[in-house]
Amino acid sequence: MALWGGRFSDAPADAVFALSRSVQFDWRLAPYDLRSSLAHLRVLKSSGLLTPEAATKIEGALKDLISDVASAKFLPSAEDEDVHSALERGLMEKIGETGGALRAGRSRNDQVATDLKLYAIDHMLDIAQQIGLLQQALIAKATEYGDAPAPGFTHMQHAQPILFGHELAKHIHAFARDIERIQDWLARTSVSPLGSGALAGSGLCLQPEITAKDLGFTSSSANSIDGVSDRDFVAEALFIISLVGVHLSRIGEEWCIWATTEFGWAKVADAYSTGSSIMPQKKNPDMAELARGKAGRLIGNLTGVLAMLKGLPFAYNRDLQEDKEPLFDSIDTLRLVLPAVTGMVATTAFDRAKMLAAAPQGFSLATEVADFLVRAGVPFAVAHEAAGKCVAICESKNIELHELSDSDFTTVNPKLTSEVRKSLTVEGAIASRTTVGATGKAALAKQLAEATAAVKATQSKISTQVTTFSEMMGQ
Ligand code: ARG
Repeated sequence: MALWGGRFSDAPADAVFALSRSVQFDWRLAPYDLRSSLAHLRVLKSSGLLTPEAATKIEGALKDLISDVASAKFLPSAEDEDVHSALERGLMEKIGETGGALRAGRSRNDQVATDLKLYAIDHMLDIAQQIGLLQQALIAKATEYGDAPAPGFTHMQHAQPILFGHELAKHIHAFARDIERIQDWLARTSVSPLGSGALAGSGLCLQPEITAKDLGFTSSSANSIDGVSDRDFVAEALFIISLVGVHLSRIGEEWCIWATTEFGWAKVADAYSTGSSIMPQKKNPDMAELARGKAGRLIGNLTGVLAMLKGLPFAYNRDLQEDKEPLFDSIDTLRLVLPAVTGMVATTAFDRAKMLAAAPQGFSLATEVADFLVRAGVPFAVAHEAAGKCVAICESKNIELHELSDSDFTTVNPKLTSEVRKSLTVEGAIASRTTVGATGKAALAKQLAEATAAVKATQSKISTQVTTFSEMMGQ
């Protein structure tokens, strides 16, 4: 069913209908469209534009339609153009012409912006909860390996020894920032477009601030043209999702490397691995690879929407219909990747012995030589040079730093006494890192305790927001 036609003598050509039609993807907005229709109905009723009898009739039909949509008893038909027209048909099938009364003071332009906002808020909250589960899995794994030394890398070269729990824990903080971004976004997105009408607001003295409150928004649009044109909330949500995807892709890359035969650190659980159709021995970290690969798709959706918005005239233009599929796809994709990565993290076992053996390799204790000299009063630049010379001697003799002779040390710098050997242990190097955020055991324990408390507090706030949102949807 089309929502227009009075001035047309011909029905749309098949190609026009085929290109226009969005119900095949926007049907998922139906529960939000029905809820915002209830809010609109209430304001029409309180403005005296509907008789109490008509309002009661429409309200009953809308509520029936809500359960018919939920149970799939009511579905879009081949003739329906979009979610809005399909639902108006549903209403009219129940109560005849009275169903058309809801169109007063409202346009699909403010309606679709409102529906999409409600959909996005609902799903971004769900994503924030799923990120919380991943953070919890990371905290548990980081705690499990909170005493396991491993080499730390820069430029993918051995740099300094660290605790492997510290390596794992770093991800918790990136995801905490992602959740903060969702919260910032939520505050900015909490402006209701409903009441903006087609673009100019409504002449029917409806009160947008009342529908805004009814739908859980903080305020209503300060400018009706902006109200129907603004898709910042879509672009921002796509950016946040992309960044979560980028963070997941970096976990994916690490897992792929750690699971190689060359590293042999990570034993990915069978349930989170896949095999090869030809090579019977293969156990591939496909979840890690998909986490890495899906980030490209998420970034693609973001750039697609930004390109669609670039230079777009105000107010509503049909180009805006192209905002939905990328948003839906990014949300769906992330909701597939997050639980898979969470499960992979939670079930991977790491080889402590291999990581410990690798920790001092590649002269990763050279900084300790320089730090020893600094403690003895040598300027760092000189100390750095001396430590570099020690490494060069080791390389020429094919030995490790602690195997250098006393005379090797003192020839390099007279202040390099045999005491330096005490600093040349993985345990000593790690233990010396005691400052906030450092890899030392106590600092790591503090980091994990604080992260645990922060994740708990954030998730409890989000679960209140989820409850408030679902209560609003049920009203
Ligand atoms: N299906 C449309 C969309 O997604 C709904 C709004 C249509 N508005 C219009 N003026 N044609 O954007």
